[in-house]
Amino acid sequence: MLLGVNIDHIATLRNARGGIEPNLLECAKMCINNGADSITTHLREDRRHIKDNDVKIIRAELKTKLNLEMAMTDEMQEIALKLVPDAICLVPEKRAELTTEGGLDIAGQLEHGKKFIKPLADKGIEVSLFIDPDINQISAAYKSGAQFIELHTGAYSNTFGSDKEKKSFEDLKTASAFARTMGLKVNAGHGLNYQNVVRMHEIPDLYELNIGHSIISRAISVGLPQAVKEMKELVTNEEIQRRSS
Ligand code: PXP
Repeated sequence: MLLGVNIDHIATLRNARGGIEPNLLECAKMCINNGADSITTHLREDRRHIKDNDVKIIRAELKTKLNLEMAMTDEMQEIALKLVPDAICLVPEKRAELTTEGGLDIAGQLEHGKKFIKPLADKGIEVSLFIDPDINQISAAYKSGAQFIELHTGAYSNTFGSDKEKKSFEDLKTASAFARTMGLKVNAGHGLNYQNVVRMHEIPDLYELNIGHSIISRAISVGLPQAVKEMKELVTNEEIQRRSS
């Protein structure tokens, strides 16, 4: 499995003072130099953390894969077509939410989805849809022209360690297997941390995990390089993989 590091909350910290510290590009490079396979930034409609100039600079300066999370709006499509990130992940966005709360309802807007995705895919951008582990949504994702889905691991993360964990984990496993039979590549993310990430090894063929909050939080204690290294070890360690499968 690959590790994508979401650096949105480094921008949250920078924006708290409105200055230039911490330097986002420097931090993105530090993530890459310590094991991140890609960098994710979510350019929200309200620009609460990542700003337009951040993605421009990272795109221009970082040679590693850039994954741009964005809502399905005309404004974001225009930005993505100009910027040409390596990958985009389409997410639902609500103004008042603290973080992305649920998966994208692609089944409820399939025709719009197809039209939205086509010009992006035609530019060679990998398109992924952030969806709940739901068979209807996965079927729609397949029909939409996206090559990837990112399974929303929020329900699993929230129930980890409780009697509801078994069900939420099985939902992810079943959904991933179904998506793979349709030829979709499967990423996962949201709420993953240094404890609950280990079970991701029990899901065959997961391609990449996108993790932000827990890594940036741990960086406060041990530093960003160490926080990324520790997560990378959990995501790639064969011994952990063997023990959990
Ligand atoms: N994947 C997607 C699509 C997201 O929206 C987020 C949160 O921005 C993440 C992964 C990372 O979630 P977390 O910050 O909880 O690790």
